[in-house]
Amino acid sequence: MAGIEIKNIGVLGAGLMGHGIAQLLAVGGCRVKLFDQAPQMLATAFQRMADNLQVFLGLGMITQDQIDQALARITLAEDMADLCRDQDMVIEAVSENLEIKRKVFATLESLTTPQCILASNTSAISIGKIARDLSRPGRVLGAHFWNPPHVVPCVEVIRGPQTEDAVMEAVFALLRRVGKRPVRVQKDVPGFVGNRMQHALWREAIALVQEGIASAEDVDEVVRYSFGLRLAFLGPLATADLAGLDLTYEVHKDLFPHLDRSTEPSPLLTQKIEQGELGAKSGQGFHKWTPEKLRQVISRRDEVLLRIVREVLT
Ligand SMILES: NC(=O)c1ccc[n+]([C@@H]2O[C@H](COP(=O)([O-])OP(=O)(O)OC[C@H]3O[C@@H](n4cnc5c(N)ncnc54)[C@H](O)[C@@H]3O)[C@@H](O)[C@H]2O)c1
Repeated sequence: MAGIEIKNIGVLGAGLMGHGIAQLLAVGGCRVKLFDQAPQMLATAFQRMADNLQVFLGLGMITQDQIDQALARITLAEDMADLCRDQDMVIEAVSENLEIKRKVFATLESLTTPQCILASNTSAISIGKIARDLSRPGRVLGAHFWNPPHVVPCVEVIRGPQTEDAVMEAVFALLRRVGKRPVRVQKDVPGFVGNRMQHALWREAIALVQEGIASAEDVDEVVRYSFGLRLAFLGPLATADLAGLDLTYEVHKDLFPHLDRSTEPSPLLTQKIEQGELGAKSGQGFHKWTPEKLRQVISRRDEVLLRIVREVLT
């Protein structure tokens, strides 16, 4: 396995994440096969990838020729057997449900060669739990892309309890080659690295609104126009270094007892779910959403993120 080069990749699930993962791998030069059990997801996948690539084209980050060549490297699989045939790696991006993922991995293991690497894009499910009943758990690991995967550079590469070193390194090298910024997560902890921090922040943000300390608009405003702005350039630990660790220590001593430490989702979030306020997809969450506003925010978000990637992070 040492030094293996991953060139042929299957992507299972053509939803929000799967189609973007297939696209970025193809742009990076890999041959990609994409499969989804829902025919309409497969039928619309090429159009969604082509639409995404228009944003890159508009910013001069890709040429039309390169787009055509990348899309030509992607084929739609007819079924699971077709998806798995002769692959160096299969990335799973199906629904976030342990039982579904276990079933899918059992099928993937039965249809791929013994060398094939099997990766899950799970947001938070333990890799060990997904691989529990497999006969080749050494080939299994997490590859956690962030939404939108074709825009956000970081991918957390998560070592399961039995993942072989060579598998970790092969996936790390692949991600580097296709232009991503992979990071090794050496222990299979819930939420890995990024989602542990992100959801700690969301827990506090929701608590601030629930306690009437600030409105949802103002909470988002504080983040966007203060430390959120800085985070794209300096991570939290480098920021702590600049602030001074002695100051950080004093703040933690005074502040930590007052921070939200709930181990359950907050009553405000629970109430919103019960009222059908599910966020952008239902028109109301912490903010009000119309289809037009959602379309504009997503398109502007991708453009802004790509500008930051191009001008700040490279
Ligand atoms: N949405 C995000 O922001 C995000 C970010 C990072 C990771 N993830 C993770 O990525 C995975 C996919 O999330 P998503 O947002 O793309 O979901 P999604 O619902 O948009 O897409 C999932 C797709 O999987 C297909 N599918 C479900 N079961 C299948 C099966 N057995 N065989 C073939 N296809 C199947 C569905 O038809 C659907 O098209 C989840 O594990 C999720 O936690 C999501």
